[in-house]
Amino acid sequence: MALYLAVANRKGGVGKSTVSVMLAHSLSTWGAKRVLVVDIDSQCNASIILLGGRGWREARDARKTISDYFVDCFRTPHTVPETYLVKESGDIVGASGRRPVLDLLPGSLLIDEVQGDLFLDLAGGSAGKNLIIDLSRRLGLLLRRWDSAYDVVIMDCAPGLSFVTHAAIAIADRVIVPFRPDYVSLMAIDRISLVAEGVTNLDELSAIPLSRRRYLCLPNFVRGRGAERLLIEEVGLTHPLADVQLAHRDGIANAFDWSSEPRTIEAKYGDGVADVRRLYEEISGSMSKVTPHARDYARDSHRALSA
Ligand SMILES: Nc1ncnc2c1ncn2[C@@H]1O[C@H](COP(=O)(O)OP(=O)(O)OP(=O)(O)O)[C@@H](O)[C@H]1O
Ligand SMILES: [Mg+2]
Repeated sequence: MALYLAVANRKGGVGKSTVSVMLAHSLSTWGAKRVLVVDIDSQCNASIILLGGRGWREARDARKTISDYFVDCFRTPHTVPETYLVKESGDIVGASGRRPVLDLLPGSLLIDEVQGDLFLDLAGGSAGKNLIIDLSRRLGLLLRRWDSAYDVVIMDCAPGLSFVTHAAIAIADRVIVPFRPDYVSLMAIDRISLVAEGVTNLDELSAIPLSRRRYLCLPNFVRGRGAERLLIEEVGLTHPLADVQLAHRDGIANAFDWSSEPRTIEAKYGDGVADVRRLYEEISGSMSKVTPHARDYARDSHRALSA
């Protein structure tokens, strides 16, 4: 059964796509895991990092995108999920020169519109139900269909909280929340933490021990200033905090660009490779401690939808 990770924060530009791809590269290359990245952001950044602009356009023209996948699954029974994936994405080779198993369900510029269309489809067919919950559950079940084919599925979420982002957070075994250590980011962390734990306010949240929360806050863009340290400590008082802190580095920024010449992970990340290593070690080290949450969610969803 795959471990599902959602990388999410309703705030933009905090490093969600960067962290998604870092985890994908490191878990597939160093960890020899079979990794699938699901790009659920209409900006398609993870797809463009993993395929390059031309590769992503080719995938789109071949109808290998998340929008095509959702639309076809809603409208056509027996859709085969694998046909929407791009195999061996990324520009990394292992030390032996072999490509890691790093596949991609590419993003789509249309995903925001498609969610509205799917909602209307559903509204036509099932009046009287709680349609928003229904849609989120259906999308969640469709995201969960790669359970047996991969070890890890990483979902790069859009900023904000769309239906698909809600679905991804709901089915994830863990939600990784990258944040910039500044005051504006604090409110965004509070909000995503409520969604991840399914509670409505911070009092309810505080009743859940930090060790039992599904989400993990990950400081990014850290420059080592005193004010940042205080703010990160403040986050750690109310939220689970990763041990690793990702520094602001040119090597991490440059890794955003896809290269047509495959490189080792060390060459790709340059001065950021030690950050990637620490992130990899922390996340892979915590994998065995995770109780798969999504299995229960999927079972409950099937029951609710067939009731
Ligand atoms: N640790 C870092 N050091 C240097 N640059 C970084 C770091 N993390 C991310 N960046 C850069 O910051 C920018 C924003 O990162 P990214 O696109 O991953 O954020 P995001 O949260 O996915 O954004 P969006 O909300 O738009 O999807 C990118 O140009 C990326 O290269
Ligand atoms: Mg992004």
